[in-house]
Amino acid sequence: MRSPMKSAGMALFAARSAAFLAAALLALASWGSPLARAQTGPGGNPMRDMMRQMMQGYVPPPGMSADALPEPDSEGTRLMARYCAQCHDLPSPRYKTAAEWPAVFDRMNARMRMMGGGMMGGGMMGGGMMGMGRVEAPGASEGAALLAYLQRNAMRPARPEELQAGDPADRAVFLGVCAQCHAPPSPSLHPPDAWLGIVARMQANMQLMDKPQPTPQQREAIVRLLQAAARWSANHPFPRENQ
Ligand code: HEC
Ligand code: HEC
Repeated sequence: MRSPMKSAGMALFAARSAAFLAAALLALASWGSPLARAQTGPGGNPMRDMMRQMMQGYVPPPGMSADALPEPDSEGTRLMARYCAQCHDLPSPRYKTAAEWPAVFDRMNARMRMMGGGMMGGGMMGGGMMGMGRVEAPGASEGAALLAYLQRNAMRPARPEELQAGDPADRAVFLGVCAQCHAPPSPSLHPPDAWLGIVARMQANMQLMDKPQPTPQQREAIVRLLQAAARWSANHPFPRENQ
């Protein structure tokens, strides 16, 4: 039997896929026009521009560049730049936890194959009529290397015991606001002083991704919780395998 979670996920996938297809078709229509091509400039990517407008809230926000990725000059970075910026801005591997990446990666891989002409082979959506052959999908060993790169550089999730340090009301706000896009992050990731700036950056991500903004009071509660928990974590180092 299909779990309700799973069907909800499927419905979301279908809805997002429909919006994505519309964005892709529009992007291709403009790609075909020399004027539009010129306007995007050399190296411009009409698909990505269109996705930014139509899929806002679903795709990773702008802000990550290939030279800012962890492990510069590695194969993983090269594969990210080649495959993961074809349709939307380059995602940070720290956007998701190692546990979250496989499902996201599988979905992206399916999208690349579909757009690359694998699943809908050479037909309207393939390399043929619509010129969709432009999306490349990684081969099996490249795909494995990509997923390994993402997981190796993933965000470390919060562990329940480190969140006990703060006030329960603050913790509830943190869990409500900071787990909308990724698992709640570990407060041990950054020193107490750094969290104010990171929470501000996350608020900008929320704006870019059409998510509700925390109130100033909620923001204070989150920073208070993260700072208290980061202080606690500094005195209670985790076992090495969780670092
Ligand atoms: C063929 C186009 C395409 C390519 C190539 C692509 N993506 Fe995506 N990506 C999408 C679409 C469409 C969405 C929004 C719908 C969704 O999440 O499935 C998305 C959303 C995302 C999200 C946000 C999901 C969330 O839950 O917030 C992440 C992260 C992501 N992609 C990572 C990647 C990575 C990593 C790669 C390279 C391995 C990649 N994408 C390559 C089309 C693509
Ligand atoms: C709208 C979606 C969204 C929400 C909600 C969100 N984040 Fe993020 N988070 C991101 C994205 C995108 C990245 C990767 C890009 C970046 O680091 O800005 C990220 C990455 C992170 C990272 C890893 C990068 C680093 O600097 O260590 C941490 C930690 C983090 N978020 C903390 C938080 C906290 C704390 C909150 C709640 C205030 C929060 N996030 C809410 C989207 C979100």
